[in-house]
Amino acid sequence: AYVIALPCVDVMDRACVEECPVDCIYEGGRSLYIHPDECVDCGACEPVCPVEAIFYEDDVPDEWTPYITDNADFFVETLPGRDAPLGSPGGAMKLGPTGADAPLVASLPPQGT
Ligand code: F3S
Ligand code: F3S
Repeated sequence: AYVIALPCVDVMDRACVEECPVDCIYEGGRSLYIHPDECVDCGACEPVCPVEAIFYEDDVPDEWTPYITDNADFFVETLPGRDAPLGSPGGAMKLGPTGADAPLVASLPPQGT
């Protein structure tokens, strides 16, 4: 699967969302997250991100490999304000913005200038 890493945090450009043929890029509060099981590895999202936040899982820079787990955790952990994990919603548009983040992103101080 493809993974969204640190550069998306507090940026959330959303250009990637338009490109995904299976609508598997979900909106949190401070970042977006790619569903690791719904992603079909088409690669369409990666080149359109203006801050180069998206990587194929095997190509994530070493310092950002924890984001592989954090993207998955967004769906398997129970997010703040919810009573169950998201699981596999089968479409980000249908789900809408969640307003909540996976643990690693949630722990970060404000990013950017
Ligand atoms: Fe984030 Fe880049 Fe998409 S900033 S929302 S991964 S286009
Ligand atoms: Fe979607 Fe393809 Fe990216 S399935 S998440 S646009 S790799």
